[in-house]
Amino acid sequence: MEVGPAEPDRDCPRCPRLVEFRETWRAKRPDWENAPVPSFGPVEARLLIVGLAPGLQGANRTGRPFTGDYAGDLLYATLTEFGFATGTYAARPDDGLTLIDARITNAVRCVPPENKPTGPEIATCRPFLVATMAEMPKLAAIVALGRIAHDTLMGTLGWKKSARPFGHGAVHAGSHGTSSTWPQRPLTVFDSYHCSRYNTNTGVLTPAMFRAVFSAVRAHVDGAAAR
Ligand code: URA
Repeated sequence: MEVGPAEPDRDCPRCPRLVEFRETWRAKRPDWENAPVPSFGPVEARLLIVGLAPGLQGANRTGRPFTGDYAGDLLYATLTEFGFATGTYAARPDDGLTLIDARITNAVRCVPPENKPTGPEIATCRPFLVATMAEMPKLAAIVALGRIAHDTLMGTLGWKKSARPFGHGAVHAGSHGTSSTWPQRPLTVFDSYHCSRYNTNTGVLTPAMFRAVFSAVRAHVDGAAAR
């Protein structure tokens, strides 16, 4: 299988609706990034966290996933608690926060109107997710934030969605890799409700529920290292 680039160009033309939205915001707010948001964290990481898409005034403004987004407050606090991040998260890309053995990416790299990417946009952006995973030689665990991230991951991995349905706290073990440049390796996907403002404000996701997922991830990654 051919694996392309892991990051879209700044002016990626693939999704007409997202290009139009990006251009609108470039005109309105030239001081914002208004571009596809690249993955954050070392390629040698064993853990990849897959979100949905940049928030308009968060990652789309700052250029770093979840940075300045409400969802980032819980995500970065939890990553720090479980040793996957160090430093102080201050909602700005120059806050010095460093990810340790973890990387964050989004299923869709460009900000969608109303935080809702369409099915075709998710499919169009999928080659970048494939390439992001392929460039991580030690990838052993993925946290899927929300059902859309889960579903797109199942498609990307060629794992049957019906056999591995999304569920908060669900753990799906399998393997990934389809070519000599991307050999088969064990991989475990951990599902979590997305840490969005809506989910946390409505109590769908509590900090304790989110911590439980990362506690399981920590144990898995540490156990895999010991084996
Ligand atoms: N910000 C991101 O970068 N991704 C999300 O999924 C939500 C907010």
